[in-house]
Amino acid sequence: MAILPIIHYPDERLHTQAKPVDLVDSRIRQLVADMAETMYAAPGIGLAATQVDVHLQVIVIDISENHDKLFSLINPVIVKAEGRAIHEEGCLSVPGIYEPVARAAHISVKFLDLEGKELVLEAEGLLAVCIQHEMDHLKGKVFVEYLSQLKQARLKQKLKKRARETM
Ligand code: NI
Repeated sequence: MAILPIIHYPDERLHTQAKPVDLVDSRIRQLVADMAETMYAAPGIGLAATQVDVHLQVIVIDISENHDKLFSLINPVIVKAEGRAIHEEGCLSVPGIYEPVARAAHISVKFLDLEGKELVLEAEGLLAVCIQHEMDHLKGKVFVEYLSQLKQARLKQKLKKRARETM
């Protein structure tokens, strides 16, 4: 296994559209293992392949306290979305920034597991938020892009300043 470098906003590569996986093979299982290790090391509760510069539709999520309930979703598709809930979100690609985002409260998501078998997962609460957040990454969207233009401009200034300070 290996810890992969995470791309940080506003890197243009975060706007790449991920392609569907056509065959779930050992290469994909290795990617999932590396992504899980990267997410746990960060530490974070979700990671999309886009964030490690691999543009395939793969996400990993673990919202458990003991890091023992890993979900890996390949080619996820939301087949049902209901209600609306606002949660404060963060992202490993936008460190230290937390902002409220409105999303569907209940979702059903269809995906392939590590054996390439199609499954459907029903999710609500934090898990539903996480799945939608990570699926946005696969579409090239970062959560801060839901904020107002003014807030996004301020955020970019702040991140530029921070980057200068750490140089
Ligand atoms: Ni994220």
